[in-house]
Amino acid sequence: MNLFANVARPVLFRLGGGDAEHAHEWTLNRLATLPAPALAAMRRRYAFAAPVDVFGVRFPNRVGLAAGMDKNGVALPAWPALGFGFVEVGTVTAKEQPGNDRPRLFRLKQSEAIINRMGFNNAGAAALADRLAALGKLDVPLGISLGKSKVTPLEDAVEDYLTSYRLLHPYADYIAVNVSSPNTPGLRSLQDRDSIAALLKALSGPVPVLVKIAPDLTEPAIAELLEVCLEHGAAGLIATNTTLSRDGIDEADQHLADEAGGLSGRPLTERSRQVVKFVHDETGGRLPIIGVGGVMSVDDAARLLDAGASLVQLYSGFIYRGPDLVRAVARGARPIRSHRAR
Ligand SMILES: Cc1cc2nc3c(=O)[nH]c(=O)nc-3n(C[C@H](O)[C@H](O)[C@H](O)COP(=O)(O)O)c2cc1C
Repeated sequence: MNLFANVARPVLFRLGGGDAEHAHEWTLNRLATLPAPALAAMRRRYAFAAPVDVFGVRFPNRVGLAAGMDKNGVALPAWPALGFGFVEVGTVTAKEQPGNDRPRLFRLKQSEAIINRMGFNNAGAAALADRLAALGKLDVPLGISLGKSKVTPLEDAVEDYLTSYRLLHPYADYIAVNVSSPNTPGLRSLQDRDSIAALLKALSGPVPVLVKIAPDLTEPAIAELLEVCLEHGAAGLIATNTTLSRDGIDEADQHLADEAGGLSGRPLTERSRQVVKFVHDETGGRLPIIGVGGVMSVDDAARLLDAGASLVQLYSGFIYRGPDLVRAVARGARPIRSHRAR
């Protein structure tokens, strides 16, 4: 019997009268307060070592926790114990902010999907820096995702990212520049050539910087962005963030399709794979790719790796399938073809 699907998930999905954000907060709090023996027991069950070097960083396996799950890094020791080979915290912003009004997180269960319009609710870069200083080094690589504070005008975006970068880069194994969330007005326009060039110039330094892109960009727009990334020394790409498209939603979930926000999970699987393949082909494998979007099974992960990703991340797959998926993907994550970026 699958304990997660048959026992844990139904309980979690009923918490707070079925409110998804309530379940998320409850789970994070539980994970944040697990005692060391519980973490050790989880580690024995879920952790799987299959080390790999990507953009100069050694990862214990290829499966990471995607940004947004633990924005403020409150449960950091729990994620490696659940099998993750790296963790991306954030997205954080220079200024602490509450995010959008609730409800802002919706499960589309038949579609194995999520719509969110959280809007970068987070305690701010300084709070995360304090927490990371107190915690000390994690035993898996830590990515830190940076976004723009909502109150900061777009023309001051570089300075805003730089404020967070200065506070946080000493703790990061890589920095993710999030210019692709659909939930901060105007943010995605930072994916254009001049904006991304200015950002990459400002954030250049010893820590690898990766750019996270939207799945809704056209191929010419991605190609232009890739040129800039190569020109300005980006260490890699994270593909992809959530989509504004509503394709692939099951009939039973159509009543939620009009909720504003980004869609993730099963409906994104194929689009993310296409974007990863395009990025890989376009760059001849010169830019390592973290593939994310709709990895709901070992096969989905294998296809993303086969399309050119060097690492994968989970968000929705973890919500619907739990930690067994993390371990299964870590075990099964062997690229079929060989790519230069590995
Ligand atoms: C509730 C929620 C919050 C998210 N928050 C962030 C975020 O703060 N920063 C970010 O880069 N991506 C964020 N994402 C996007 C995920 O990191 C990931 O790119 C996307 O969900 C696709 O992966 P998935 O299909 O495995 O969920 C969020 C996704 C969800 C569902």
